[in-house]
Amino acid sequence: MADGAEKGKPLTRRIFLAGSWSWLRWAAGALLLYPLFRFLGYRTPKQPRIVKVQKVVPVGGFVLEHDFILFVGQNGPWAVSRKCTHLGCRLNFQEKEGILVCPCHHSRFSKEGVRLSGPAQKNLPRFQVTTVREDKDGKGYLVTF
Ligand code: FES
Repeated sequence: MADGAEKGKPLTRRIFLAGSWSWLRWAAGALLLYPLFRFLGYRTPKQPRIVKVQKVVPVGGFVLEHDFILFVGQNGPWAVSRKCTHLGCRLNFQEKEGILVCPCHHSRFSKEGVRLSGPAQKNLPRFQVTTVREDKDGKGYLVTF
């Protein structure tokens, strides 16, 4: 308001103080709101989930879980996500062809999670698998994701 009305007039102390006061109020407002915006944008770090698969899977076999699919090969077990990297639909495993297929837009992935075709652009995430030889619940696998 001080800028438009006083155009062409010499800068007086009154005009300077009025302009400074306006800037000071904006700076104080931003300073007070900064913690609030930081709080609203805060996300808690995601904790890793550990799921136990209580089965002994033979070499060449697999176990379909809600969030991942566990395969066991000659070199040990591995697990890949069942969440499609395109828009997040849950993948199905086609045992005959040995591939994961998305029911939504038909992206296809290998058992290792490598993208083969379709609109998905990224490979599937692989999860860490630990073989449990023996504990109170028996044998199985721990999948961390
Ligand atoms: S969500 Fe899987 S291909 Fe689109």
